[in-house]
Amino acid sequence: MGIVEKNDLTANSLKHIAIIMDGNGRWANKRALSRLKGHEQGANAVREAIKGCRELGIPFLTLFAFSSENWKRPKDEVNHLMGLFRYFFNKELKDLSEAGVKVNFIGNIKKLPEDVQDLVQIAKDKTAGNTDLVLTIALSYGGKEEITSAARKIAKLILDGELAPDEIDETFFASHLETDGLPDPDIILRTSGEQRISNFLLWQSAYSELIFQEVLWPDFDRSWLEKAVDEFHSRCRRYGAISV
Ligand code: IPE
Ligand code: IPE
Ligand code: MG
Repeated sequence: MGIVEKNDLTANSLKHIAIIMDGNGRWANKRALSRLKGHEQGANAVREAIKGCRELGIPFLTLFAFSSENWKRPKDEVNHLMGLFRYFFNKELKDLSEAGVKVNFIGNIKKLPEDVQDLVQIAKDKTAGNTDLVLTIALSYGGKEEITSAARKIAKLILDGELAPDEIDETFFASHLETDGLPDPDIILRTSGEQRISNFLLWQSAYSELIFQEVLWPDFDRSWLEKAVDEFHSRCRRYGAISV
């Protein structure tokens, strides 16, 4: 039975997959290549993930491309990654736009080089009307930073007399996160065998199914996406209640 049919039959509806794309460096080390080559190869896996989600009818895909902590890496690696983002947006934007993909970003975009910030804005503007797949790219993103920033915005509302502390509930708080308008991820998938969250979507992953795969990100393809979807459908989500 195909994945899409299976989706229709199950109570586990799958709307949003968020991926921690990890293992580029190890992929390159294994081949005695520079880490930078691993990042370059990782771009192909990004295409696979986007195509796979479109074909499987999964409407939201979020990709962790660069964390708030990745700025700690050597300068040449950071510069190379920025160069890859530049190349990717320049080269892929037309195809993404024609494929009905709406490109969205979360993270501290202001820390990126100015021309990359411009490309981010262009990608958002050009694809704003698309509806087939919402692709959110987490760039210079950290979950703790996002939550802190939401708390700061809310604190200002209180200081300005526009809000009473009792009015803050989970929905209100979530609406001040950068993911406002996106459903919480059903799956958080991490490649490379590491089993940690590394500051990704801390609030939003409260009830996500965590799936860890051994594959190194540059080798990720449609078959690994299908394995994750199958694994998701084999899980029983209870949200603290009991199964019926
Ligand atoms: C993920 O691959 C890409 C980024 C974090 C930007 P890594 O670069 O972390 O690869 P490993 O974990 O060193 O293998
Ligand atoms: C998480 O991977 C960030 C991204 C995939 C963009 P890292 O490789 O930075 O995470 P740690 O350092 O192993 O926790
Ligand atoms: Mg890593």
